[in-house]
Amino acid sequence: MKKMMLVPVLAMMVLGCQEQAERESIAVLKSPDGRLAMEFTIDGSGKPEYSLKYGEETVVRPSGMGFLLRGVMQASKINYGDPITKTDALPERTFTDGFRVIGTDTTSFDEVWEPVWGEESEIRNHYNELAVRLEKETTGELMTVRFRLYDDGLGFRYEFPGMQKLDYFVIKEEMTEFAMSGDHFSWWIPGDYDTQEYEYTESRLSEIPSLFELGVCGNSSQTPFAMNGVQTSFLMKTDSGLYINVHEAALVDYSCMHLMVDPETFVLRTHLTPDAQGWKGYMQTPCNTPWRTVQVTDSAEKMLASRLILNLNEPCAYDDVSWIHPVKYMGVWWEMIAGSGSWSYTDDFPSVKLGETDYASARPNGRHSANNENVRRYIDFAAANGFDAVLVEGWNIGWEDWSGKLKDYVFDFTTPYPDFDIKALNEYAHSKGIRLIMHHETSSSVRNYERHMEKAYSLMEEYGYDAVKSGYVGDIIPRGEHHYGQWMVNHYLYAVTEAARHHIMVNAHEAVRPTGLCRTYPNLIGNESARGTEYQAFGGTTPKHVTILPFTRLNGGPMDFTPGIFEMDLSTFTGNTSRVNATIANQLGLYVTMYSPLQMAADLPQHYEKFMDAFRFIRDVAVDWSESRYLDAEPGDYVVIARKAKGTGQWFLGGVTDENRRIFDVRLDFLEPGRTYEATIYRDAPDADCYSNPQAYDIFTETVTASDTISVTAVPGGGFAVSFREI
Ligand code: NOJ
Ligand code: CA
Repeated sequence: MKKMMLVPVLAMMVLGCQEQAERESIAVLKSPDGRLAMEFTIDGSGKPEYSLKYGEETVVRPSGMGFLLRGVMQASKINYGDPITKTDALPERTFTDGFRVIGTDTTSFDEVWEPVWGEESEIRNHYNELAVRLEKETTGELMTVRFRLYDDGLGFRYEFPGMQKLDYFVIKEEMTEFAMSGDHFSWWIPGDYDTQEYEYTESRLSEIPSLFELGVCGNSSQTPFAMNGVQTSFLMKTDSGLYINVHEAALVDYSCMHLMVDPETFVLRTHLTPDAQGWKGYMQTPCNTPWRTVQVTDSAEKMLASRLILNLNEPCAYDDVSWIHPVKYMGVWWEMIAGSGSWSYTDDFPSVKLGETDYASARPNGRHSANNENVRRYIDFAAANGFDAVLVEGWNIGWEDWSGKLKDYVFDFTTPYPDFDIKALNEYAHSKGIRLIMHHETSSSVRNYERHMEKAYSLMEEYGYDAVKSGYVGDIIPRGEHHYGQWMVNHYLYAVTEAARHHIMVNAHEAVRPTGLCRTYPNLIGNESARGTEYQAFGGTTPKHVTILPFTRLNGGPMDFTPGIFEMDLSTFTGNTSRVNATIANQLGLYVTMYSPLQMAADLPQHYEKFMDAFRFIRDVAVDWSESRYLDAEPGDYVVIARKAKGTGQWFLGGVTDENRRIFDVRLDFLEPGRTYEATIYRDAPDADCYSNPQAYDIFTETVTASDTISVTAVPGGGFAVSFREI
């Protein structure tokens, strides 16, 4: 059911030729509620700029737009067989000025759409739109800038119509600016062409470049391609209390955007991810860029409720979505990450060669986790506790040298190890109502993956797998592309649409960060693209991390964060001395605060067996929602959210805190008035804390109504979770 209307825009004034200093105001666009106003201007040199205000407050000062283009060969000048001489090439040139406005179009749009899965069952997409048609005066080339202004922010993109003088071009840099109005506070991870697996740094804009130089931002291993800027979604807070979030929507056939921060002027400048040669985008008209977005809200809770990124994406591309569904899963996974198991079957490397030596004759290392017996153990536990699926990593040959990319070891994604009986295990799983989730670690041998993809997905179909976790660890060979460049951006989407042909859902790790594409391609049920729970086994993560992710990484789409660790001291079962900096109650709260239609219970069955009363919450909690209420939140400090399960209507509440103990008084006015509920409250014990006493919790029940308030104390690195049952 869709409600849609197109109406003339009353809120918009096209101002025409009013002089404003040297800038000529072309149009002012207002948000549906009139709070946000965006102005488009052009100066005497034909330089277009946009600015944005929230009421009387400036959010974005006049900011430049456009591109720096590489000098190109003009196809029309090339006669086949002729040597290409320098004179055939156009020089490098700016596409930031020398424009004249040839027209403006305005519309308004208001619809309600239903996501296949999500934080709510209906999403309103309501905006006013202004399209400014520009012509480069010297060449007659055309470019349209399309702005959409929502109550919670601005989106704009560049469009290049077809059948025009500009057939194709290569981008040297995109020149879009976001000129901030002051030295805002901000939460950021360093710019990097290949990883987002960092912790966040909190600082003023003016401090960012120097903190980067000191190397104190984040503590992931920095790749050689870390650059002196920040990644998006880039969250800021003004001294007046506005929250501003700069990101992008619908990243398709284009390179991922980073932002360079000017510490003196507070201008954020676009820095696109380059390709292996240093160029940033290959465009053939008609084409357009992704949307550049500036979300603006007067509270942190409203920022969490913003659906601007999803709304700027195209509607669902599939006619039949009946095969797409939310998934709660366990996995043969944490034991390898923590170090007690291995992905590989043998340590006889390099004497075992794919195709030459039969693995059956290799000596097993005795630690291979994806063996029949262990997989059955996970299936049994998952089935007994109402899960949908079990992920199995390390099932396929090639892990002996999986990051070495030697041709004799590279994955084929179809050949199981001798101790993994793909047919029998799938039959066993299905007999218990469990689906196995396939794992494809590409090791970033992307051409190799594409070459095997059809067979690999067909194998999945044959055995009834309907979801794959893919991964892109390591450098991308053979081209030396970056994870976030246009070439890889195209690959990730290709994998998703190819999977859809086989009715397979995709959860891609190390892929580019989401930009709302799950609206259009809802079989993209998860991504990693940030620092997930695995880092708790790689040296630990500070508690505040999970209070920032919902504002940043989750702005573009769900994360396969993999919560649910109950054994925080890894040395109890491995030689790993890393500690999980969270309490059990915190881990439970994450199932509500970190939205994903794909939720894992990441720990080992034997660890859950020790705490089955707490595990009860993971069993019960829903993974798909008809309503979400963002009750109380501050990035870097805490997040409290209540959600109503789709289908059952049952409410769940979750909260997490940073390194500080906090008392939360949660008003239950989201519950149905006049009804009575039994609330089961899972909270930190008073003497718990994430460093020295993480497994201490209390569980108790209370009879409550919508007019009650629950008071819970969360300890450092702690949190709480509540399930409500109507009585
Ligand atoms: C990194 C992924 O994030 C992790 O989940 C996976 O187990 C390993 N790569 C191996 O593919
Ligand atoms: Ca990873």
